[in-house]
Amino acid sequence: MQPTVTNNTNFTGLDVDNLSYKIKDKTLFSNLELSVKPNEKVLLMAPSGWGKTTLLKLLLGKLRPDDGKIYIDQNNVTGDWQKAHDSFSYVNQKPFIFDDTLKFNITLGRKATDSVLEQVAGEAGLTNLIQEKGLNYQVGENGSNLSGGQIQRIEIARALLSNRPILLADEATSALDPTLSLEVHNTLLRNPQIAVIEVAHKISEQEKSMFDRIIQLDK
Ligand SMILES: Nc1ncnc2c1ncn2[C@@H]1O[C@H](COP(=O)(O)OP(=O)(O)OP(=O)(O)O)[C@@H](O)[C@H]1O
Ligand SMILES: [Mg+2]
Repeated sequence: MQPTVTNNTNFTGLDVDNLSYKIKDKTLFSNLELSVKPNEKVLLMAPSGWGKTTLLKLLLGKLRPDDGKIYIDQNNVTGDWQKAHDSFSYVNQKPFIFDDTLKFNITLGRKATDSVLEQVAGEAGLTNLIQEKGLNYQVGENGSNLSGGQIQRIEIARALLSNRPILLADEATSALDPTLSLEVHNTLLRNPQIAVIEVAHKISEQEKSMFDRIIQLDK
């Protein structure tokens, strides 16, 4: 496969140093350490309510930690969305789907050549759908003409098209049945161009085995 749209060659790593965060008086976590290398696939596990989504918001610079620092390529980006967000794409558990074409839902109106689009769709596992229905296929209100797995793949294609070196996945497949979840992880975790940080509270053993590293955050 051609090296893609993704131009991640400049990314050298993410480092989280001694991170602490409280909500009101409650400490969610403290002294958190994490380093992620280019293209590494890391699974962060913790129970519901532990603060996984909050941690992703801290990485994105949407929140400022009470203590600690976040570095991207050795630059301090702590609490700085402007500096941090260019390095991350984000895959939501429940992606927003527009009542429009497949193409619009992948590009979200961004310019992309057909070959880039084809490549991204391929990496996200959408080739069959596009061959069958075409890029101008109307996906329906809330994606009613799509399966849950197809919707999740569209979300992944969007993330790949955004050309960022780290993909953050917030329980990306927890709304899917086990077979679809496995398929989506297959596409996401075999992509050699991006680092993936996924947070989850529940995931199958088979899917766990696809990650390079699993960190149990609550231990
Ligand atoms: N804006 C907020 N104000 C007050 N409390 C909040 C706020 N955001 C999150 N919390 C609390 O912080 C804790 C961590 O929330 P968070 O959503 O990060 O957990 P999570 O690990 O992602 O959980 P889940 O697995 O259910 O998605 C929870 O107890 C939640 O109620
Ligand atoms: Mg969450």
